[in-house]
Amino acid sequence: MRIETERLDLRSATLEDAPLLLDLFRRPEVRKYLEPSPEWTIERARQAVEYRRRLEAERGFAQLVVRTKVAGDFIGNAGLHPILGSSLIELLYHYLPTAWGKGYGTEAAVAWLDYAFRSLRIEKVIAVCIPQNVGSWRVMEKAGMRYVGLESFFGKHRVKKYVAERGTWAPPGRTS
Ligand SMILES: CC(C)(COP(=O)(O)OP(=O)(O)OC[C@H]1O[C@@H](n2cnc3c(N)ncnc32)[C@H](O)[C@@H]1OP(=O)(O)O)[C@@H](O)C(=O)NCCC(=O)NCCS
Repeated sequence: MRIETERLDLRSATLEDAPLLLDLFRRPEVRKYLEPSPEWTIERARQAVEYRRRLEAERGFAQLVVRTKVAGDFIGNAGLHPILGSSLIELLYHYLPTAWGKGYGTEAAVAWLDYAFRSLRIEKVIAVCIPQNVGSWRVMEKAGMRYVGLESFFGKHRVKKYVAERGTWAPPGRTS
């Protein structure tokens, strides 16, 4: 699958992307506010790609690799992820530090919400992060998601939770 924005090209991950995802998720700056998880290895990165491709075939969404249109360089990862054991769908995003602060996070999040509601007809998308991850919750706010509160969420304590719903979400700058 492919989602395009003004500056970004989001595409399904392939096994050739596994080393790029490995590099992204191994970086301490990227991991700083993420939940601890088993160490990323090339095998884990390949499994992540295969999982995404299965998910895309079954549900029509997954996390996609993000490249800039102009240079074509890999800058990160963004997409939807089903929370196991629930009907909830979470928006996730991770970028290389060199790509931070350029509005890419917001641009891809808006494109994903638009795709989720208009093309996939999903009812609700949520996003969570720890309060210290200011860049992440600013992306949620700038993408037009609504702040719900500080909650415990699937083993994560006191995360900021945001929601966007098909019936009320509108791209920033427009009213629903
Ligand atoms: C969080 C992250 C996705 C933000 O992406 P980004 O492309 O830099 O975000 P944007 O450029 O769209 O910025 C959105 C807003 O957040 C602000 N912002 C971004 N990083 C910030 C930071 N570290 N501290 C404070 N504000 C920040 C921007 O200034 C912008 O607000 P403004 O337009 O009012 O100035 C990126 O830093 C990242 O990939 N971090 C590592 C992985 C991660 O934590 N993912 C989220 C897990 S919950």
